[in-house]
Amino acid sequence: MPRPAELADRLADLDARYRRRRRPRVDSPQGPHIVVDGRTYLTFASNDYLGLASDARLIDALADGARRFGAGSGSSHLLTGHLAAHDRFERHFADFVGREAALLFSSGYQANTGVVGALVGRGDTVFSDRLAHASLIDGCRLSGAEHVRFRHNDLDGLESRLAAHPGGARLIAVDAVYSMDGDLAPLADLLALAERYDAWLYVDDAHGFGVLGDGGRGSLAAAGLDSPNLVQLATFGKAAGLAGAAVAGTATVIDWLVNSARTAIFTTACPPSLAHALTVMLDVVGQADERRADLEARIVQLREGAAARGLALLPSRTAIQPFPCGDDAAALAAAARLRERGIWVPAIRPPTVPVGSARLRVSLSAAHSAADVEALLDGLS
Ligand SMILES: Cc1ncc(COP(=O)(O)O)c(C=O)c1O
Repeated sequence: MPRPAELADRLADLDARYRRRRRPRVDSPQGPHIVVDGRTYLTFASNDYLGLASDARLIDALADGARRFGAGSGSSHLLTGHLAAHDRFERHFADFVGREAALLFSSGYQANTGVVGALVGRGDTVFSDRLAHASLIDGCRLSGAEHVRFRHNDLDGLESRLAAHPGGARLIAVDAVYSMDGDLAPLADLLALAERYDAWLYVDDAHGFGVLGDGGRGSLAAAGLDSPNLVQLATFGKAAGLAGAAVAGTATVIDWLVNSARTAIFTTACPPSLAHALTVMLDVVGQADERRADLEARIVQLREGAAARGLALLPSRTAIQPFPCGDDAAALAAAARLRERGIWVPAIRPPTVPVGSARLRVSLSAAHSAADVEALLDGLS
């Protein structure tokens, strides 16, 4: 890590290696078009898969929630910050995803860093997929358990590692939809392994909730899975158009998390207006079949259009459609050329993805029109 005097050089070094990151300032609400530095771009950069981030029903619910429950929750959940709005959302969310109980977190990052450490610790083992999200990896590291990684979606590799670590509690940590590749985890097989080895299966469904399964109930509902060993996460900053996250499982697991997930305990409860809007969101998402059909149509259009133009795409069936570029400079140059044409697609580089696999990550939304996707295909060609 750099000392104070070394910081500027380290930043310059990041620049030289095409790794320096900057935050574009967006001067418009989220939607298919955003304004950056006074210019309007057609964007494929957000995870607003259903186009709900600027939805009037959710905006009204936030305002209504603030009027009814106040602006802030005032303290942590275990003191007096667990207001009726939080409680109601947790019950509705558990019903929505068909589990016994749920626990609300302020973000998916907090959920992942809190839940893993509440279920495994020193003397235990956590097994994570090599492409699991950074927040899940941080949760594994923070837990103090031995951290074993297995090749992406490699069930045999996972099983041999489970067999080689018989002592203590075991937890398998995976994404349901991989955030930079868009492919799916073999959830039924993973759950069968977890049950066979008496392990927890923790599934991060950040990119499946709202989009997959009947009524957008997520990847586990789509796969028809339920088990006492299964703990699942949904995040609400993506398809749900809001913010926050919730973990669902058996009532006993949730009670355990209330008592031991440090990122739920030592933090102020999220604003009650958010919890209220999240309850409204469950209705909105549940009734969004038309938006899910629109999104599916855009996915098919992009994949067929890319194939017709000979553009290489990773094999994803979800709203996340990555175009591999190889090295970091090539990915940055491709993103810059698209921006010149008024199209915003992020270049994803290491450490977010493995070295040598930089890519343009296209993220589609139900709010995109067929003409938007056509414009993207023209730009990519
Ligand atoms: C797979 C995955 N898990 C967790 C998170 C973190 O969720 P949040 O943005 O709510 O912190 C993200 C992205 O933000 C993600 O892509």
